[in-house]
Amino acid sequence: MGRINQATRRLLDVSMALGQERRLDVLLEKILTYARDLTSADAASLYLTEGKGLRFVLTQNDSVDIEFKRVKIPISNKSVAGYVARSKNVVRAADLDRIGKNAPFSINRKFDNASGYRSVSMLAVPLVDSHGTLAGVLQLINRRKNPKAALGKDFSKKQVIAFGAHDQEFAMALAGQAAAAIVNTRLYDSIDNLLESIVHASVSAIESRDPTTSGHSVRVAAYCVELAKAVDREEKGVMGAVHFGRDAIREIRFASLLHDFGKIGVREDILVKAHKLQPHELDKIETRGEMLDLQMRFTALNRKFNGLSSDTVKIDARLRDDLKRLEENMQTIRKANNPSVLPKGRFEEISRLAVEPLGIGGCDILTLLSREEAEKLGIRKGSLSKAERREIQRHVAHTYDFLCKILWTPELKRVPEIAYAHHEKIDGTGYPRGLKGSEIPFEARMMTICDIYDALTASDRPYKKAVPQETALEILQSEGRAGLIDTELLALFTSAKVFAGQDFLKDRRK
Ligand SMILES: [Fe+2]
Ligand SMILES: [Fe+2]
Repeated sequence: MGRINQATRRLLDVSMALGQERRLDVLLEKILTYARDLTSADAASLYLTEGKGLRFVLTQNDSVDIEFKRVKIPISNKSVAGYVARSKNVVRAADLDRIGKNAPFSINRKFDNASGYRSVSMLAVPLVDSHGTLAGVLQLINRRKNPKAALGKDFSKKQVIAFGAHDQEFAMALAGQAAAAIVNTRLYDSIDNLLESIVHASVSAIESRDPTTSGHSVRVAAYCVELAKAVDREEKGVMGAVHFGRDAIREIRFASLLHDFGKIGVREDILVKAHKLQPHELDKIETRGEMLDLQMRFTALNRKFNGLSSDTVKIDARLRDDLKRLEENMQTIRKANNPSVLPKGRFEEISRLAVEPLGIGGCDILTLLSREEAEKLGIRKGSLSKAERREIQRHVAHTYDFLCKILWTPELKRVPEIAYAHHEKIDGTGYPRGLKGSEIPFEARMMTICDIYDALTASDRPYKKAVPQETALEILQSEGRAGLIDTELLALFTSAKVFAGQDFLKDRRK
């Protein structure tokens, strides 16, 4: 097959390959490699448009190792690339030393001087897509007489030949494809960046409502990404068959960044509730206690003054008893207000304070607590009533509703379904749907472990202190034994030390 036929076929293959590449850095390498391959160029450089200038982004050279800086140059006639970008003309020069003074551009030898390489022949083409958008400039340097042999450092001009008309045609055809691919890739990148910024803005919105869980979503996402990489490394067993590529990792990262977004729909006083009673509710009881205290003292004085009892010692002793009992009751209330597990008998004591008339010092307030207050203080574990707990749990449905409204790209379409299942348990006791075992998406089972681990080890939850890493792992183990979380994933979470090496861990330990 002749050189031209071969090159035409290669060009078709190259067009396909460029159209499929989404990573800009890989795409640029491919463009240079293919262009040099098609034209037997010993070296090549690539510039991309950036603002009103050109950014030197990549160079390849078979003869010398080149260190280059990503300098920005103006789009002007002071360089070949600048001229090509400005005019959208092609520059094809057999020997740059013989460029006359009348040329519309200057030859900039700075790069040659710094690298010790000599540019002789050159073909520079603008990268313009079908809409006329300039993406950059491709510069091919030193067409080799012997296509297969690199020129080496001290080559002679005889080893270099001029780029021909066919080289120019191929380079221009490739330039069109390359420009389209670059424009597309940059568009994808800008869409990705837009999505990233929206996701991060959403995370900030959740955290601004609940500063006590600040950083939770970001940490859970970081753990999930590490766990996904660990799963991907596994070669045997169930996990050997599961692969997490770049897109799948991005999907689980977004799902975990947004898993608690629905908390935005939960009432703030419940979301940040640290005690069983809201502060104003406890204040009301404290004031009631103070009033009782005063009333007891006043009643005692009144008795003494009116001579209702001749024995003032007895009056004082009764007052002391009454005040002591009042203080004990207030202490019981304050302790019960904490979210820790109620000790045996405390529930009954609290209930009694709502039904038993005080009978203290003849005061007319019948009970220290209302039924409603006693009910709240009687919560046996945590700080939330059943209704409040149900409202918090609704955050999962809110998250799902919100995520379903986003038009995810095909690679990210499972974000809603993954986030929706982060509170499901293997034995079916989770919420909101009570899914069991494999009904729960694999990624959600990963997220559950990361979510619990962070909730345990973070020092920022209102209702409990941070536990050390070892204790958190023990708690997770016991959850695994109880059939709540995926034990194989937990084993990998532990053995791969998914939680280690994360810089942010250092910052959040008190
Ligand atoms: Fe959650
Ligand atoms: Fe969470």
